[in-house]
Amino acid sequence: MSKTIAIVGASGAIGQALAHGYAAQYPAVTVHLFSRQSLRDTVPRAHAHSINYSDEDSIAQAAETAAQDGPLSAVIVATGMLHDGGLMPEKTVGALSMDHLNRVLHVNTVVPALVAKYFLPKLSTTHRSVFAALSARVGSISDNRLGGWYAYRASKSALNMIIKTAAIEMQRVNKHAIVVGLHPGTVDSALSKPFQARVPSDQLFTAKYAAERLINVVENLTPADTGQCWDWQGLPIQP
Ligand SMILES: NC(=O)c1ccc[n+]([C@@H]2O[C@H](COP(=O)([O-])OP(=O)(O)OC[C@H]3O[C@@H](n4cnc5c(N)ncnc54)[C@H](OP(=O)(O)O)[C@@H]3O)[C@@H](O)[C@H]2O)c1
Repeated sequence: MSKTIAIVGASGAIGQALAHGYAAQYPAVTVHLFSRQSLRDTVPRAHAHSINYSDEDSIAQAAETAAQDGPLSAVIVATGMLHDGGLMPEKTVGALSMDHLNRVLHVNTVVPALVAKYFLPKLSTTHRSVFAALSARVGSISDNRLGGWYAYRASKSALNMIIKTAAIEMQRVNKHAIVVGLHPGTVDSALSKPFQARVPSDQLFTAKYAAERLINVVENLTPADTGQCWDWQGLPIQP
C-alpha cells in the first residue's frame, strides 16, 4: 500500500523539519503540507496547500485534499502559539487577559481539535495509522512545578484531553488508529526564541534533530500507545 501523510502547520520550524525529514527518510511516501503561509516548493515531492484555521470549511477541504488518493497513514499537527509579538505568556494570574486566553486556546486547542474532526475519519482503517498533535510537557498538570504561562499550559492540557478522548472514540471505530500528543523538547524556533536564554545549549534542539526524533517516535507507536502524550525520546508524559 502506498503511504500518504499530512502535516498541518508546515511553515513552522518543527512542521517544516518534519516535512523534510519524511521526504528524506521515506521517499515513497506522498506528503501533503498545509499552512497559512504560501509554501514555496522547498520540500521534494511534497504537495503544498493553503489552509485557513479560522474557517472550518477550509479545514474540512484540507482533509478531503489530503485523502483524495486514499486513506492517510499519518497526520501531524505542528501548529501552536506561545506568544504573539505583544502578547507574552503570563507570569501571574493578574496578567491574564481575555484576548490572550482566547487566542492561545484557539490556536493550541480549537484548531487541532477541528483538524482531528476532519482528518481522523481519513486515517487508514486497514493499516496502522497515526494522528499526532504537537503538545508540550508544560501541559502536564502533575509536572507543573514552576507555575506561570497560564494560557499556554491550559491550552496544551486541554489539547491532551481532546487527544485522549478522540483516542477512546477511535478505539471503537478504527482499531488501527493511534492518536497521540508529542513533546518535541525545547526547540530553536520563533515560538521559543524569547525564552532560550536560560536553556543549556545541549538542551536546545535544532528543529531538524527534534523532527528526526519525533518521526522515530511516530513510526514506532503501537495501538497500545494511543491516548498518551509522548516526548521526543519516546517516553510518556504524565497527564
Ligand atoms: N519550540 C519549542 O521549544 C516547543 C516546545 C514544546 C512544544 N512545542 C510545540 O511544537 C509546535 C510547533 O512549534 P514550533 O516551535 O515549530 O513553532 P513555530 O515555528 O512558531 O511554528 C508554529 C506554527 O503554528 C502555526 N501558527 C502560529 N501562530 C498561529 C496563529 N496565531 N494562528 C494560527 N496558526 C498559527 C503556524 O503554522 P502555519 O503558518 O504553517 O499554518 C506556525 O508556523 C507547537 O504546537 C508548540 O507548542 C514547541
